[in-house]
This record gives sequence, C-alpha cells and structure tokens, in this order.
Amino acid sequence: MNISIQNLNKIYDNGKHALTDINLEIESGMFGLLGPNGAGKSTLMRILVTLMKPTSGKVLIDGMDITKNRAEIREVLGYLPQDFRFFTKLKTWEFLDYAARLAGIKSKKERLQKVDLWLENVGLFDARDRNADKLSGGMKRRLGIAQALIGDPKLLVVDEPTTGLDPEERIRFRNILSDISRQDAIIILSTHIVGDISSICQSMTLLDDGYLGFSGSPEELIAKTAGHVYQINTSGTDYDLLKNTYPIISTIPTDEGWDVQFVADKVSLPNAKQIEPNLEHAYVYFMEYMSNSNY
Ligand SMILES: Nc1ncnc2c1ncn2[C@@H]1O[C@H](COP(=O)(O)OP(=O)(O)OP(=O)(O)O)[C@@H](O)[C@H]1O
Ligand SMILES: [Mg+2]
Repeated sequence: MNISIQNLNKIYDNGKHALTDINLEIESGMFGLLGPNGAGKSTLMRILVTLMKPTSGKVLIDGMDITKNRAEIREVLGYLPQDFRFFTKLKTWEFLDYAARLAGIKSKKERLQKVDLWLENVGLFDARDRNADKLSGGMKRRLGIAQALIGDPKLLVVDEPTTGLDPEERIRFRNILSDISRQDAIIILSTHIVGDISSICQSMTLLDDGYLGFSGSPEELIAKTAGHVYQINTSGTDYDLLKNTYPIISTIPTDEGWDVQFVADKVSLPNAKQIEPNLEHAYVYFMEYMSNSNY
C-alpha cells in the first residue's frame, strides 16, 4: 500500500487556505498526523477518503486517483470521522451488520461472524442488543472504531481516535491498530496528543496552519531538538522572566523553588542544563522555532 500526495491545496469557499502545497509519501504502517487545532488534519483526511475534492494537486492511493477512482478506493477504505455520529434506531450489532454490508460483505453468515468478532474486539459484546444511540460517549467511539474496521480496510483513516476514550480503552485501541498494521495496510491517525504518536507511529508529519512542517520518524524529529531542551531550578521572580521568554514544558515544585523545563534555540543562563528531548519537547520546539523558517 502506498499514498502519494502531490502539490495538494485546499481552499474553502470562505477563502480559508486550509492546506498549502502538501507533498507527502505514505507507506504501509502506522502514520501519525500531528498538529494543533485548525492545522488542517481533518481537511487532509476528508480529501484522502474521497469525501471532499482538493482545490488543486493530486493524490494517488496505490496508483488510483482520488478524483477518478472513487468507487475502487472506497472499497479498500475504513474511516472514522472526528465527529462520528449516527441517527439510528438500530441495535449495536445491527449497526455493525449494516456497516459490514456497506463494506461489501455479502454473505450473511460471514457478516454475523465479523460482527461478533468486532463486538468482542472493542468490548461491546455485552451491549450488542442495546440501542446504538443510547450507548455512552466512549462506547459510541468504540462502535465507530469497529465500523471502520469491520471490512478489513487496506487504508484506515481515523480522525482523533482516542478522544473520549479512558486510558484502558486507549491502550486496547492501540493494540487493535498494531495488529492491523502488520498486514500491509496504511493506518493514518490524526491527533494532538503527542503520546499517541510516540507509542505507535513509525512515521509522522507535523501540520501547522495548512503547512507541512516536518515528515519523518518520531526519532528524527526528536533528534532535531537535541541541544534545545533545558531544565533550570528557579525561584518566583526568575520564573516569571523565564515564562515570558521561553515556551515552558513543565514546572515541578522542589524544596528551593521549581524545576522548570523549557525549549530554546540558545540560552545563556549559567544554571540551565541541557536535558534529553522527548517527542513532546520536540513538538513544542518545532512549533515555536522551526516551522516559520521552513515556510
Ligand atoms: N467547511 C469549512 N469551511 C470553511 N473553513 C473550514 C471548513 N472546515 C474547516 N475549515 C477551516 O480550515 C482550517 C483547518 O480545519 P481542520 O478541521 O482541517 O483542522 P484540524 O487540524 O482538523 O483541527 P482540529 O484539531 O480542531 O480538529 C481551520 O481554519 C478551519 O476553521
Ligand atoms: Mg480535526
């Protein structure tokens, strides 16, 4: 599986330039789309799943053009929208059966097997006979995950999948995704939770206000941040000064003030010591110092 995105632009009717000259190659595996609110993550995903046309540019999915081969692409696709909602009086299992039918599974026996399997996988088996629209928010989210996966998609697009899931559910969801990514599929997930990316994605990209800031592995992004993350123990007045000068990552109280972690291009504070960056540091550093210079 392979996706090639070439000079992609999306300008909404109101003039908002939501994506600007995106060039990106995505190979099989787990791919993370990271960026703040309004970055363009959902816009890019809606284009990939053929729900929205780009203003210009080209997207090929396994060689198929998203504007010309929509039916073929939809056959291999699973999609969980950010605002997954449904209006239905169907029971939970019936809703999944319906999704399986949409995914092209014609045999009723096969469908019912799949339905049971996915009810089990997302922990909804005991709720199978409940009305789907009476499920809790987290359970609806899990039903959304199941409907996206029931047709064994080769391309799975999940928009903010872990929103509203409790920690245990997040881990379960991560494991489900890892299972699928072993099967030559592409899984694209968007998030603004850095931890979701670092724990499961082999490659990632940073979107910021419609621009592609960085593409590569999480490790590469972290490597770019080496030498730019500092920790300093500070008292009250120094802290205010620091806060107004640098992006603060964390503040931990100690016996003599606070241990403050921050990112900076360069600092000349004698007490500040460099520390090993993690992906959260890298994200903040990139957003603050590097993205603008790359545009
Ligand atoms: N239908 C629309 N018409 C006009 N502008 C839109 C439309 N949908 C999105 N936008 C704008 O396009 C930009 C990108 O929005 P998008 O929803 O793709 O961002 P996002 O990265 O998914 O954000 P979030 O993290 O909040 O989900 C935003 O400025 C948004 O306001
Ligand atoms: Mg979004």
